[in-house]
Amino acid sequence: MNVISVENLSFRYRRASEYSLKNVSFDVRQGELLGIIGPSGSGKSTLCLTLNGIIPNSIKGDFSGDVIVRDPETGEEYNTKETPVAKLSTLVGLVLQNPESQLFNMTVEEEIAFGLENLGFDRNEILRRLRWALEVTGLRGLEREFPPNLSGGQQQRLAIAAVLAMEPAVLVLDEPTSQLDPVGRKEVLGLVSLLRKEHGITVVLVEHHTDYILRFADRVLVMADGEIVLEGTPRDIADEAETLKRLGVKLPPSLEISHELRKRGMMKVPAITEEELLSGIEYPPG
Ligand SMILES: Nc1ncnc2c1ncn2[C@@H]1O[C@H](COP(=O)(O)OP(=O)(O)OP(=O)(O)O)[C@@H](O)[C@H]1O
Ligand SMILES: [Mg+2]
Repeated sequence: MNVISVENLSFRYRRASEYSLKNVSFDVRQGELLGIIGPSGSGKSTLCLTLNGIIPNSIKGDFSGDVIVRDPETGEEYNTKETPVAKLSTLVGLVLQNPESQLFNMTVEEEIAFGLENLGFDRNEILRRLRWALEVTGLRGLEREFPPNLSGGQQQRLAIAAVLAMEPAVLVLDEPTSQLDPVGRKEVLGLVSLLRKEHGITVVLVEHHTDYILRFADRVLVMADGEIVLEGTPRDIADEAETLKRLGVKLPPSLEISHELRKRGMMKVPAITEEELLSGIEYPPG
């Protein structure tokens, strides 16, 4: 089942001369980790904002095509053009690049409970979801902390916890590690893997660390200049190393090296991991 269907979507921001999204179509399948990569300015963040209806409901412009969100529990469909963001946010949880920009409460637990209180859940349901969100994001014990005092990785996990507490059908993460040091990045990407594997949560992940996407995504979209230029499994995408380089997508070291070795006839298939790189080298060149 598709939780989101994007159909012939085009969008131009007000006063912008160019379209930021040009006739984009794809589906998000239930339970998958869909990775999105592409150079800076290719439209990845704009696309994320269309998935929970911020575009076109709050950020307006020239919008055509449709984004349909399906509630996997009821099967009901919502066209983002006709559905308030408040409703869509319970189905599509969006976490932005900069964690500080979405944290505004005095304590970790208030931060997580905030959205639930606004939705009018009763006390027991709020507590149940709060405990679950703290547990799954590894923030237990930090309930009373002041969010700005947390590390970058903890802050980003808190932003994810606040969204997860809404129990959305899809979690959309827009470059969640770009502001983090390597430790924070590991924490957040570890959490994404856990959500996907242990909890079966559907995740759309924009990430310029292509390494993680090629290792762990089920499918990958590559964007360039407002369009989806490649779509496939990580293997399919790794096969297009030349195109990725031309677009300005940074390749993980194993893929970069295997790409050079393939040109010299010293390797047959592209290597996504170091192990594949080391086991795939042929010498003398075949
Ligand atoms: N609020 C805005 N008003 C006008 N143009 C915008 C606005 N936000 C983004 N754009 C333009 O839309 C295009 C796509 O931008 P977007 O931020 O979606 O790209 P991105 O792929 O997320 O880039 P990055 O990797 O740097 O985050 C760019 O040309 C950008 O200048
Ligand atoms: Mg962006």
